Amino acid sequence: MVNSLNDIKAPIAAELQIFEKKFRESMKSGVPLLNRITRYVFKRKGKQIRPMLVFLSAKMCGDVKESTYHAASLIEMLHTATLIHDDVVDESYERRGFFSINALWQNKISVLLGDYLLSRGLLLALENKAHLTLEIVATAVKEMSEGEILQLEKARRLDIKEPIYFEIIRQKTASLMAAACSAGAASINSDPEVIEKFRSFGEKIGIAYQIRDDLMDFGDDDIGKPKGIDIKEKKMTLPLIYTLNQASFLEKRRIINTIKNHNKNPARVAEVIQIVRAGEGIPYAKKVMKKYEDEALKIIESIPPSDARTAMIELVHFMTDRKK
Ligand code: IPE
Ligand code: IPE
Ligand code: MG
Ligand code: MG
Repeated sequence: MVNSLNDIKAPIAAELQIFEKKFRESMKSGVPLLNRITRYVFKRKGKQIRPMLVFLSAKMCGDVKESTYHAASLIEMLHTATLIHDDVVDESYERRGFFSINALWQNKISVLLGDYLLSRGLLLALENKAHLTLEIVATAVKEMSEGEILQLEKARRLDIKEPIYFEIIRQKTASLMAAACSAGAASINSDPEVIEKFRSFGEKIGIAYQIRDDLMDFGDDDIGKPKGIDIKEKKMTLPLIYTLNQASFLEKRRIINTIKNHNKNPARVAEVIQIVRAGEGIPYAKKVMKKYEDEALKIIESIPPSDARTAMIELVHFMTDRKK
């Protein structure tokens, strides 16, 4: 049985409460429209996995400090900014079970709001002289942009192989999770070996997390955002890559033709989803996800046992078992 996110949050409930207050305050602006939109963003908050990773990593190393809060706010702020931009790039109109920002306020506002949140996050870290955090997180943001652009480049040519897929998800998703874990640990312990351990742990669960996300795109559950959108956006994810590798020449040609020329045709997209679901692509992706999950868990085995470590292990299970 996988614990609910609320159960997992229990040991860091006090920290998360303080975090939320700081997070909300650091978004405030003198521009009324901006405040209206950030209020909307704040109300539809996400799962807060990344701040959880920051606090649990920190707690596995000692007592949470002021700098831990700065890291959590900065990272959630950047995450929020990248989702707002991502929905523009993906032309996606639903996020967290509600309308996305681009659906309600259009692309112009989304681009500027994303920039605003990004800069507020960076300023927050600067004002608090959190230079190490800033360095860790700014590197992740650079990688995220590279990952999303690499993905667009590959979508144009559809020539994607497994190693490229892993490179894309490592950059676009795992880099921020790695930053969350290493910044959390670094806020308490300055030993480079410990920080590296947490970075590597975060990277592995980040890869597993994105594989799970890509699997959900093929599923039936209500995930609070559109499904089947990856094929529509010509994103070649692991279940599809595996299916293509296994397919006959004709089948492969038909799938590629759909993605290339009929990717906005719901019937053709549904047909590809059906082909993927009928084959071994989904069990294969689950197996690979599990491999990353196990590798991540192996890394934190060497950290002394604590309530925080137990909660972290539960969080890892949640991340690869989530329905949303
Ligand atoms: C969505 O991240 C983007 C991915 C990396 C898959 P989350 O699923 O963590 O988003 P929220 O913050 O909970 O909505
Ligand atoms: C993750 O990829 C996006 C970012 C890391 C910003 P997706 O495009 O699959 O994320 P969702 O599905 O829109 O949340
Ligand atoms: Mg998207
Ligand atoms: Mg997705």
